[in-house]
Amino acid sequence: MAVAGIISTGSAYPEGILTNADLTKMVDTSDEWILTRTGIKQRHKASAEEYTSLFAIEAANKALSAAGITAADLDLIICATVTPDQLLPSTGCLVQAAIGAHKASAFDIAAACSGFIYGLTLANQMIRGKQARYVLVLGAETLTRYVDYKDRATCVIFGDGAGAAIVGPVDDERGILATKICSDGRLAEQLFASGGGTRLGATPETFSAGLHFFKMRGNELFKIAVRSMVEVSRAVLAESGYTAKDLNLFVPHQANQRITDSVSEKLEVEKDRVFSNIAMHGNTSSASIPIALDECIANGRIKPGDLVLMASFGGGVTWGAALLRW
Ligand code: ACO
Repeated sequence: MAVAGIISTGSAYPEGILTNADLTKMVDTSDEWILTRTGIKQRHKASAEEYTSLFAIEAANKALSAAGITAADLDLIICATVTPDQLLPSTGCLVQAAIGAHKASAFDIAAACSGFIYGLTLANQMIRGKQARYVLVLGAETLTRYVDYKDRATCVIFGDGAGAAIVGPVDDERGILATKICSDGRLAEQLFASGGGTRLGATPETFSAGLHFFKMRGNELFKIAVRSMVEVSRAVLAESGYTAKDLNLFVPHQANQRITDSVSEKLEVEKDRVFSNIAMHGNTSSASIPIALDECIANGRIKPGDLVLMASFGGGVTWGAALLRW
């Protein structure tokens, strides 16, 4: 029986756009390679003056207004990000202050691209446990700050932005039917940024060696991503007594169009029941699913009563899925 559901969504991203043509001036790549290998045409890129909480605040305010509640109604803010404004305090607390959610508690979670599904899982449990009525779940990233624009294997993929969801009480027929979150830290070296933490602190040496940039074994991650997203999707469907045939829409993390196609094919969900906006946003990590949901609602791809599956995969490695009756 569902208790909590997504009541509304919001999204925001920088106006700045980095096209494939722009990238061809920085690294040895081509529009054709990027488009055929990833499905990406452009990604949003923050200016030097923009940062993660700005996008999160705008997305949060849009979601609050769409829900018809105010920031004062929020009991909890969960901000999924691996690119926070600063080490301390959390971006969640910075958003809390900016939107005036003074009754809420706020914190960040770092689960890379799976962060939104992790946040949704926590929000659901907090509402089920009667610890909260309204929870703001954010996925917000300024990934381009950690991208090495000399590394063609990563710089073509990532973009910036934020998505927000208000999770709150719903009637029995609707809401979050099942969620599942998973990690395997043994695969940490598939995607990492080693510099700037307590192990290899931010020094002129680590900075000039580019140790704060994301390094990725894309090819290996690709296979792990497909396998784990398929498994976790099947798990939440089975737990709820559904099969992929029952789905109205599949909203996967927008990592790579070929990952989306492969996962959808293995789950036997035809293309017209799969949402993709990777062409316009690239991979925005934790922001990708809530931005996608917001676009689906705005353009009528998700309607009340629809059965919607979300699945994600990211650095850690982490993965997860959520099944909702909208
Ligand atoms: N332009 C042109 N050629 C390139 C580029 C580029 N931008 N990037 C790599 N290549 C070359 C490689 O050098 C290689 O050349 P070689 O055969 O001469 O050695 C060739 O293309 C094939 O390289 P692969 O790495 O095998 O390319 P692949 O098809 O796997 O695509 C990609 C790379 C896009 C990174 C893909 O592997 C991918 O999307 N992986 C998954 C990424 C992911 O999901 N990450 C986790 C989520 S992100 C997060 O958590 C923050």
